[in-house]
Amino acid sequence: MADAAPAPKDPATIRREDYRPPAWFIPEVELDFQLDLERTVVRSKLDVRRSKSAKADEPLVLQGDDISPTSVKVDGEARTDWTLVEGDLVLPLNGASHSVEIEVELDPSTNTQLMGLYASNDMLCTQCEAEGFRRITFAPDRPDVLSRYQVRMEADKAKFPVLLCNGDKVAEGDGENGRHWVQWNDPWPKPSYLFALVAGDLVANNDSFTTRSGKPVELNIWVRDGDLDRTGHAMKALKDSMRWDEETYGREYDLGLFNIVAVSDFNMGAMENKGLNIFNSRYILADPEVATDADFDGIEGVVAHEYFHNWSGNRVTCRDWFQLSLKEGFTVYRDQSFSADMGSAALKRIEDVRILRAAQFPEDAGPLAHPIRPESYQEISNFYTATIYNKGAEVIRMMNTLMGAESFRKGTDLYFDRHDGEAATCEDFVTAMEDGGEIDLKQFRNWYETPGTPRVTANLSHDPQTGTATVHLSQKIAQNGEKPKSSELVIPLKTALLDPETGAHQGEQLLLLDQTEKSFVLEGYRDHPVLSINRGFSAPIILESSQTAEQLAFLSAHDDDPFARFEAVQRLMTGYLTAKVLGTPVDRDIILHAVAKILGDKEIDPAFLAELLVLPSEAFLGDQMVEVDPQAIHDEREKLRGKIAVQFEKQFRKLYKSCWPGEFSLDAEARANRKLRNVTLGYLAASYTDDAAELAFEQYREADNMTAMQGALAVLSHLEAEERTIAFDDFYAKFKSNPLVLDKWFSLQAMSLRPDTVKRIDSLSRHPDFTLSNPNRVRALYGAFTGNQVRFHDLSGKGYQMIADMVIALDKQNPQTAARFIPQLGRWRRYERERSELMRLALEKIAAQPELSKDVSEQVHKSLA
Ligand code: PHE
Ligand code: ZN
Repeated sequence: MADAAPAPKDPATIRREDYRPPAWFIPEVELDFQLDLERTVVRSKLDVRRSKSAKADEPLVLQGDDISPTSVKVDGEARTDWTLVEGDLVLPLNGASHSVEIEVELDPSTNTQLMGLYASNDMLCTQCEAEGFRRITFAPDRPDVLSRYQVRMEADKAKFPVLLCNGDKVAEGDGENGRHWVQWNDPWPKPSYLFALVAGDLVANNDSFTTRSGKPVELNIWVRDGDLDRTGHAMKALKDSMRWDEETYGREYDLGLFNIVAVSDFNMGAMENKGLNIFNSRYILADPEVATDADFDGIEGVVAHEYFHNWSGNRVTCRDWFQLSLKEGFTVYRDQSFSADMGSAALKRIEDVRILRAAQFPEDAGPLAHPIRPESYQEISNFYTATIYNKGAEVIRMMNTLMGAESFRKGTDLYFDRHDGEAATCEDFVTAMEDGGEIDLKQFRNWYETPGTPRVTANLSHDPQTGTATVHLSQKIAQNGEKPKSSELVIPLKTALLDPETGAHQGEQLLLLDQTEKSFVLEGYRDHPVLSINRGFSAPIILESSQTAEQLAFLSAHDDDPFARFEAVQRLMTGYLTAKVLGTPVDRDIILHAVAKILGDKEIDPAFLAELLVLPSEAFLGDQMVEVDPQAIHDEREKLRGKIAVQFEKQFRKLYKSCWPGEFSLDAEARANRKLRNVTLGYLAASYTDDAAELAFEQYREADNMTAMQGALAVLSHLEAEERTIAFDDFYAKFKSNPLVLDKWFSLQAMSLRPDTVKRIDSLSRHPDFTLSNPNRVRALYGAFTGNQVRFHDLSGKGYQMIADMVIALDKQNPQTAARFIPQLGRWRRYERERSELMRLALEKIAAQPELSKDVSEQVHKSLA
């Protein structure tokens, strides 16, 4: 289980249209684990049943990856007539049902991919989605084969006092030589990707929950000794999620036990294994001293996400991996709605759209674009994308918008009911929504097969004679990546026409753009109204409207839909900044007036004010341009920031003082104050006043919480001041033993706008606390760096080279995490000529490596194609 196996020269492409039902079913699985860090023995007993549709001589094919059997038995007899074909075990069988026993030996300590059974610190844990189970034992490792699992785990009691698996604990006891064992039984049939086990020296935050039908559930969050007092927020989120899913979707938990385990080495955020969720520790551990408000939100969202999978993913699972969005898009939508209900719906929507635009729109506009239900893949790990997750969630949200809440709920009830215990498809979901919600979604299905972000133009004309206003809409899809099969989507656009004096309107309308072009005539407008469209971001589109800066300024002052108001400010600023970058003459006063209005609006609460004051990101601005020049964008954005900062310095100073949050609390008001304080501190630092460093340093020193500390450090990180060095050294000394906080120390430096950042990254990569073995640390340094537009895109090309070299090194130990860095370089065609060429060369360098993993190979070759 050492390094990645050499990839075949031309990795095979798997196609959705090639789906065939399994030839063998495995109703029962028995597993026996003799666990140890270096040598683990896995004995499996599979009760195999030939499918009625399979040929009588169809052999049993069990997937394996980097393992080989030490023994194979059929119906109790040893067998040697098996073969290994590309890792898979092929076993000739002639009956309709057999008992197959296989023994495999593993060395978890050398498993650096973090797929299958691996060691993290001194603990053993598993990750099986999507195709990790085949690294533990031979099995039909596909989601449409569901089995009941009985698992016996045995290990040294002192080293591994806690032994966890899916389902219920049914027996335990002590063995010989200081060993002990636990027997687990999961009554719910599940696909292999939901299998999990954990063995380690862990302690639990133990709690309980009573389901609405009165069933008691024991809840545990398992962490290392010393982390226990950082599990409270996750536990609250878990209980809130359990209640919310009962109330909102009528879904109750279905076991007497729910375990969560936090691990430090994890490729993704978390994993929804049945009854045993395994989490990246960053989505569990928090207290105000080490976690920011955003970290707290991340925990709430991910805990909910994994819990919600118990129904959307586990009870109803996916037929094949092309259906991944069936569980992920739906579950993201569910966790987004949950977080909206727990906090501010308006702020949550702004945040979700920000993420969609930052991660999904670029993906959809680049060489790795794919529909939410892809047609093909080489390595499924590459398809855990913002498209599957976040655009998938937007598609579900649009269904809700089209159907209305009540009918949507009828649809999901029918879906869960109809497909409980099955491996379903996206098509099954849509059909259930149609049948249960009594709606026709025939054309709506196009969203499942159409890649690319639709561009919608919206124009408003007005006839004062008749008092009619006409909204003219049209749609088109930029063709990128996979070709769309049909281009006319159903696009639901929440719209209001605002009175040009007061901003009042007669109610929101839902306009359905379901043709290439469509016009809507609305009566009763004496004066030319102002168009507010795609309110709440009701459709994941790019809006191209011919609105003037004056109209946008009007909306930014008056729109009663918070998202639309935020959007108006963003569009106003974006229009100004992109014009400046292109050298087009443009009026700045209108921006300053809009900001003045916002700052003077006493009705705006501090959290929303903070949102409105944040300029569009450099990355987002680049996405709006035909050819990206990161330096030019950075310069113009900084100029505008500086101008706003100077112009409103007094107000910012006042605001900064007034939003002193007092004693720490996680309530909305205190959080809003912390947020606004950080935003205003940023402006004060941009206002060229000499006390910027002092002010930030003071905030750093006085901070009793990580939000304030990080906000201060973020400002200091860009400055040429001794306060920066002192604060960063102090932060390191304080937190060097807390890996999650140390990640922040790396990230903050990687995001620094200082010209020496590229050099600093290079030296940080050799820092004793840096390691390629921990995905969080890799993302903290290099992930943050690739997001630093102006420094990653340094004209020297050194940023690109560093990423390429890191990918090449990391690919040898962790292909999944390595492949996630390719898209940053893969956007090379979007950049101005010189950078574009340097980015391409970095990709070529990766492509030229002799033994690339399937993961990296697929991404690199698609990016260069
Ligand atoms: N299924 C996990 C989730 O979204 C994500 C995941 C995928 C985790 C693959 C690990 C590996 O909740
Ligand atoms: Zn998920």
